[in-house]
Amino acid sequence: MTALRALYPALDREVNGKRLVYLDSACTALKPARVAERLADFYANWGGCGGKRSTHLLSQQVETWFQEARRAVSSFLRAESPNEIVFTSGTTEAANIVCNAFPYEPSRRKVVITDLEHNAVALPFIEAARRGDIELSICPTENGLLDLDRLADLLDEKTALLAITHASNVMGGVVPVAEAAKLARRKGIRVFVDDAQYLGTHREDVSTLGADFVAFSGHKIGGPFGIGALWGHETELNRLGTWKLGGGTVKSVSWDLKSAPEPVYLDAPGRFEAGVQNFGGAIGLHEALKVRESLPAGALRAHVGGLARRLAEGLSGLGAVRVLGRAADLEKGSLVTFVPAHPDFSAVDFNLFLNHELPGRFIAIRVGEHCAHLQHRRLGVDATARASLGAYNTAGEVDLFLDAARAYAQEACGG
Ligand SMILES: Cc1ncc(COP(=O)(O)O)c(C=O)c1O
Repeated sequence: MTALRALYPALDREVNGKRLVYLDSACTALKPARVAERLADFYANWGGCGGKRSTHLLSQQVETWFQEARRAVSSFLRAESPNEIVFTSGTTEAANIVCNAFPYEPSRRKVVITDLEHNAVALPFIEAARRGDIELSICPTENGLLDLDRLADLLDEKTALLAITHASNVMGGVVPVAEAAKLARRKGIRVFVDDAQYLGTHREDVSTLGADFVAFSGHKIGGPFGIGALWGHETELNRLGTWKLGGGTVKSVSWDLKSAPEPVYLDAPGRFEAGVQNFGGAIGLHEALKVRESLPAGALRAHVGGLARRLAEGLSGLGAVRVLGRAADLEKGSLVTFVPAHPDFSAVDFNLFLNHELPGRFIAIRVGEHCAHLQHRRLGVDATARASLGAYNTAGEVDLFLDAARAYAQEACGG
């Protein structure tokens, strides 16, 4: 653990003269120093433009690194080919691509999502439904639990696509996406999986998942901001239309506007990677994947699952808060969210308390709606408090947080 923590300089820093306890990895994971160093070297000493635009040495080197990064993502996801990897700015862009480029048909234009979806996935489909492009059904969940029978009822012959998260950023645990995908595929329904929260501490094997598309964000696994990927079976990616258009997406464009020219677009991934790419981001993500891949998957899950259980048990014993999600599920995930259960426990005040009132410690968690408005409307609350974990967190840090929660509850609610 000491060697792992040493990779992350932020763990050693002070905030307002206090030691940082970082329990906000669901928002963004801390970055290993080598990712920052790789980016600094790239921008200071290279910085050329890849993508087969220019052909000089700088450009060739950047393009080589960019394609190496694509191969690294492909191997991380156990994809069959790097052609299945589209670089995006993150899960948000990936969801927008699939939503807006999907070949809906008049008799098959229904999309099913769940009420666990992050706005990154929910909003593109809500807007497509408002425009009349699709019909949208939202499958309700109970305390984070997806009822597969209920989902099966919504997946009918008019359904084109199921878009579903593998791990909710509010309710914790994991969602049985493989089972959901099996239900969908039986009816010829395509499946988009949001792995933004899942890949932080889980492995994904897209070759056996049963989904057609999977998205993730690099910054949630220690990579830079503004880079992520959309994986799709090559045939599925090539069935999609286009969304964002520009340089690097097209084979030919005709001049003759009168003859209604149709530009001929490249196959995936080029068709979706319009404009100059985030070369630095992809190269930094590759570096982050080296760290991520060096962590043994079983040990990582056992460690983070144990911390999630410790958090959930500690908070449940508090009385002044209600932990969301089912206890048995929470250790399968990497975050624990709670709502006040006492009128004098304020999530917003608690957050301030963690930042300003603790002797020698600054504890970072997240309070709010976490861009998961559907789930917050379902819960009927404006704000929840979420503590989330990375491989680098320790039981001691969880205990510091629990001690702080007890101290706040004592002060605010008298116990
Ligand atoms: C479950 C989930 N999906 C999607 C996203 C959006 O990710 P990004 O903002 O990196 O595109 C997030 C971000 O918090 C998330 O938690």
